[in-house]
Amino acid sequence: MDSFRIHGGARLKGTIEISGSKNSALPILAATLMSDEKCVLHGVPRLSDIDSMNRLLGDLGCHVFRHDPNEEGLLIGPALNGPLEIEVRDATQCEAKYDIVKTMRASICVLGPLLAKRGKAIVSIPGGCAIGDRPVDLHVRGLQKLGAEFHYEKGNIVGEVRGRLKGCRMYLGGAQGPTVLGTINVMCAATLAEGETVLVGAACEPEVIDCAELLIKMGAKIKGHGTPEVRIEGVDSLHGAEHRVIPDRIECGTFMLAAAITNGELQLKHCNIDHLIAVTDRLDEVGVHTSRENGTIHVSSNRRLNPVEMTTQPYPGFPTDLQAQLMALLCLADGISVITERIFPDRFLHVGELNRMGAKVRKEGATAIIQGVKELQGATVMASDLRASAALVLAALVAKGTTQIDRVYHIDRGYEKIEQKLASVGAQIERVAEAKMAA
Ligand code: EPU
Repeated sequence: MDSFRIHGGARLKGTIEISGSKNSALPILAATLMSDEKCVLHGVPRLSDIDSMNRLLGDLGCHVFRHDPNEEGLLIGPALNGPLEIEVRDATQCEAKYDIVKTMRASICVLGPLLAKRGKAIVSIPGGCAIGDRPVDLHVRGLQKLGAEFHYEKGNIVGEVRGRLKGCRMYLGGAQGPTVLGTINVMCAATLAEGETVLVGAACEPEVIDCAELLIKMGAKIKGHGTPEVRIEGVDSLHGAEHRVIPDRIECGTFMLAAAITNGELQLKHCNIDHLIAVTDRLDEVGVHTSRENGTIHVSSNRRLNPVEMTTQPYPGFPTDLQAQLMALLCLADGISVITERIFPDRFLHVGELNRMGAKVRKEGATAIIQGVKELQGATVMASDLRASAALVLAALVAKGTTQIDRVYHIDRGYEKIEQKLASVGAQIERVAEAKMAA
């Protein structure tokens, strides 16, 4: 278990390249299970969650191969990662085992593709996680409406399809609104169902659109993706395709906030600011300015930060995945800010750790009240989940003295080379291996 040691105070200045989206790449990788031919994916980031998904695809009979980025003609695109090739070689395996699912909840994305293509799926039930209860009932309900039958056995969801899935019109929303991976799971399965499926109350996130675009390249017939009503006309089979995953909007937003919290100036390359409109809206109010030129975002900020109110919402609202990082910034605003979490009401594990660094944050139910302070102080803190950890990195970049963040494996799940990217724009950050710390 590595730690980060960060010495605060450096103003970040320079250019960072944004990687491909983790949350797009994971369900897209799962969708390739339905292809009869090889698929080639560009821009898939090198992250431990991607390694877990590749391992799962391997268990499910896929040959997964990453090209060397130095091969001729491939030295373009985000992070210089070589493309991934995925080919199904053995379609008899149908089980996503607990040892992988427990490390990565997105393993649930194989449920729809396996049922549609192989007629059977056994997926370990993802347990609770640091950001709260995360049920998968909407995934199961949607697939049931397409005709799959489910039972639960020894901690697994076991699904079976007699014959072929059948398209229908269904409502997919839940108590907290639409579900991103649930929409993708059911949309994937519906591409191979008989007849038309209409998903009402579908999630509109860019990651849903990206997966639909890949499926369309594979021969699927999908309309309305990116709106709450997605129409899918089932086809008999899907073929190979080549696709580049979209830039990671959450990584981009995190670096925007890193520029803001250090009163720095960053250029963020290979990103899509249209995916961050609610974020730039809030940041503008705080006094953090963004402008775009081609695919590059320029971020700069006022020395004085205004407090704001923010509520997380489904896309195009402010993403829950940037809530913790915005809170780190607002800890230093000039007044009281209010953050309400509507997607995962318990996603506040960062509050206690930020307070250990001198922040003044009080939680009331799903709301956090943040009284701005003049400075944060370095401390030893604990990463608890991916985005909470990113918030601690941001706080550490500006805190007085040195901060040690333990358990950074959480960050490695979703931020590609974060310490290298931050160091390249002036941050004083080093990764310390557990053995070295003990010495
Ligand atoms: N929900 C249900 N039942 C379900 C599914 C979801 O009640 O069957 C609820 C959830 O508990 C939550 C709400 O619906 O209250 C929305 O959850 P959603 O299903 O949209 O979340 P997800 O698809 O499991 C993805 C991202 C998360 C991100 C959320 C919300 C991936 C791999 N994960 O999760 O990303 O927070 O959408 O935008 O794409 C992260 O990257 O750090 C992360 C947690």
